[in-house]
Amino acid sequence: MMHLERYETIPECSTILVVGKKSDIGKNVNEDIRKFAEGFLKSDDKFDFLKLTNRFIFFVKEDQSDEELRVSGSKVFQTLASKHNEIAISGKEEAVLQLVEGLMLSNYEFKPYQRKENKKVNSLEKVHLPNDFSDKKIKELNNIVKAVFWARDRVNEPVSHLNATQLAEHAQKIAEEAGISIQILEKTQIESLKMGGLLAVNKGSIDPPTFTILEYKPEKPVNKKPIVLVGKGVVYDTGGLSLKPTPGSMDCMKSDMAGAACVIGAIYLAALQELKVHVIALVPATDNRPGMNAYTPGDVITMYDGTTVEVLNTDAEGRMILADALAYSNKYNPELVIDAATLTGAAVRAIGTHATIIMGNASDANFNLLEKSGNSVHERVVRFPFWKEYGDEMKSTIADLKNLGGANAGMITAGKFLEHFVKAPYIHMDIAGPAWLDKKEDYRPQGGTGSGIRLLYQFLRKFK
Ligand code: BES
Ligand code: ZN
Ligand code: ZN
Repeated sequence: MMHLERYETIPECSTILVVGKKSDIGKNVNEDIRKFAEGFLKSDDKFDFLKLTNRFIFFVKEDQSDEELRVSGSKVFQTLASKHNEIAISGKEEAVLQLVEGLMLSNYEFKPYQRKENKKVNSLEKVHLPNDFSDKKIKELNNIVKAVFWARDRVNEPVSHLNATQLAEHAQKIAEEAGISIQILEKTQIESLKMGGLLAVNKGSIDPPTFTILEYKPEKPVNKKPIVLVGKGVVYDTGGLSLKPTPGSMDCMKSDMAGAACVIGAIYLAALQELKVHVIALVPATDNRPGMNAYTPGDVITMYDGTTVEVLNTDAEGRMILADALAYSNKYNPELVIDAATLTGAAVRAIGTHATIIMGNASDANFNLLEKSGNSVHERVVRFPFWKEYGDEMKSTIADLKNLGGANAGMITAGKFLEHFVKAPYIHMDIAGPAWLDKKEDYRPQGGTGSGIRLLYQFLRKFK
């Protein structure tokens, strides 16, 4: 991973100058660079660079939004490509750190399965920062990137290398590192608990399910009752017997545990940063396959809380496993429950990859905080309605609920289904859009994006 180091005088390597006025250009630059910089300051451009024989000098206007600065960071990374693995940055701390965040988040690759001779390394190894930058901020940035990359790696990992057990083991590793307590429930325990939804989805698989409970409880937390995060951990979604129609619909379904990666990443980051907030994360995990005696359309399943559910589409599996986890959250008497899930194609069709759809019955104050948090890190959220009428569609004629709504507003009817199982104030986040990108966008790579971690971290940081 990239290393951040401090300098006293700018080293002779590629350099980024974040500038607002002439005097920011610095004294120890030659005449050509100064002229170029002065021209840049007068221009309308926000980003430009000079290519010298052995290095680049980048110029970035200081007066930009945080997101523009992060995008400038990703442009620097693009331009440097594999040519240089070291860069120095000067400028005002606040602006520089946003830029460095974009730079670091761009510096990601997932190539563990490529033979050495095919591997083209494209990474930035060292970033030099001014000596007077705050230790705390640098540490925070490192932790943010560590948690996001952890999540991207898990999402990018195919099911051949990441089944439910392996996902739980990965969680265990970082939990131990960060001082989070963890309990991994195995199939026999899940059976004793009668988590009917999780077990039903797992019936078509030869791999056992897992149910992972992570708890981070600092001394004197700001919240008396915990915040419970729940993440959808479908390590692969074939649709089950309601098999997804190929082509196209199944190739990225290794990403169907992005909600799990998001909430594990968020509690990991909260613990690394020693936030004063009591958080629990619950992760039900399994693959969804049509094998063996897979659950079928028409089945009636008794869930963990005793609710009966008529299955009308086995591809609506996320809500089956989340329902058990959400009902399990009730035992903690939480202050707030938030789930993250790649739950519906409807969410992707409605807003694409640029935002997370949120809905629920929690207080406006909590929704507003989530929205503000999202804007601050450019992981934007859009609140959808959550009226009772959407829930009416989920009533079954032979059971308490069915797992399939009508043709419209599928992201909301799914949310209403989930709401049935939660007693505490509740927010549902459908991250199906932003969790995965077919094509890279600025500092978000192709594949798993690690979406939602920076959002939830800001939310937890500001909670209460
Ligand atoms: N994992 C999918 C949702 C999804 C689709 C995520 C596309 C990312 C990209 C989910 O399990 C699913 O298949 N949902 C169905 C629900 C339907 C059967 C009610 C869907 O959205 O089509
Ligand atoms: Zn599905
Ligand atoms: Zn799914």
